[in-house]
Amino acid sequence: QVAAASGHTVVLVDQSDEILKKSAKGIEESLKRVTKKKFADNPEAGAEFIEKTLKNLTTSTDAVAVVHSTDLVIEAIVENQEIKNELFKRLDKFAPEHTIFASNTSSLQITQLANSTTRQDRFGGLHFFNPVPMMKLVEVIKTPMTSQKTFESLVDFSKAVGKSPVTCKDTPGFIVNRLLVPYMMEAVRLFERGDASKEDIDVAMKLGAGYPMGPFELLDYVGLDTSKYIIDGWHSLEPNNPLFAPSPLLNKLVKEKKLGKKTGEGFYKYK
Ligand code: 3HC
Repeated sequence: QVAAASGHTVVLVDQSDEILKKSAKGIEESLKRVTKKKFADNPEAGAEFIEKTLKNLTTSTDAVAVVHSTDLVIEAIVENQEIKNELFKRLDKFAPEHTIFASNTSSLQITQLANSTTRQDRFGGLHFFNPVPMMKLVEVIKTPMTSQKTFESLVDFSKAVGKSPVTCKDTPGFIVNRLLVPYMMEAVRLFERGDASKEDIDVAMKLGAGYPMGPFELLDYVGLDTSKYIIDGWHSLEPNNPLFAPSPLLNKLVKEKKLGKKTGEGFYKYK
């Protein structure tokens, strides 16, 4: 959405037409929200902006067919090293020489993803934040193998889509998630111990620390499955780090398919 809105030609690839239809609907609704604010005084210009953005955006279920004519691949699939590696390996065979690969991974090492390809110098991290149209930040990750030219291209692209890039070494969680995920897990542990209700913890962090969402609201927003993938991955890397300890409650909710807002229930219920 943000790439198309800033004039880039985008092909959104996913597994099924059904998912793509849902995505397209979500993008249209989000564009309407953005436009309402941006073009408050000029609805005609707003309608034109939406039309132009949607013209830049097509969809496909065939990543290999699309990658032939792609300059930049931004992967944002399931947070699983093997599945990501398999995708990158396949795309590497069909992508043009100059094509840069980037991962939007929340927690995996970019270096390990890059190693599944033959283009380690044209590979980096490009980590966006939910909801992407609203959150201004992008973390741009350079591995020891990423060329300076690739890094600069990723920084330029981030700016071209209207974001503010920061950079961090290729370490678990980069900057934001390394701080945010342990904080959210500490909130779950506080609740698990019975020290406070989840509602009060959320109110406390909103009114006492000025956060726009409380940790339980944010966990539901990000997705409990994604949060679990992140913490499980880090726990296997550093089993003795108490900040990365798995949570029985989070595991239970994920097992019950209560994944947060997207499934209608997580820590809270949604209509
Ligand atoms: N698309 C377009 N616009 C959107 C939007 C979307 N998906 N979601 C919200 N907005 C807009 C609304 O239209 C509204 O615009 P307005 O000011 O013109 O009315 C504005 O954002 C505020 O929205 P709401 O009034 O509905 O609600 P809030 O004031 O609570 O704001 C929020 C919503 C921007 C999501 C805010 O609650 C927030 O910043 N929450 C924290 C988000 C956060 O921490 N994200 C990081 C998650 S971690 C992550 O993504 C990393 C990953 O790797 C796990």
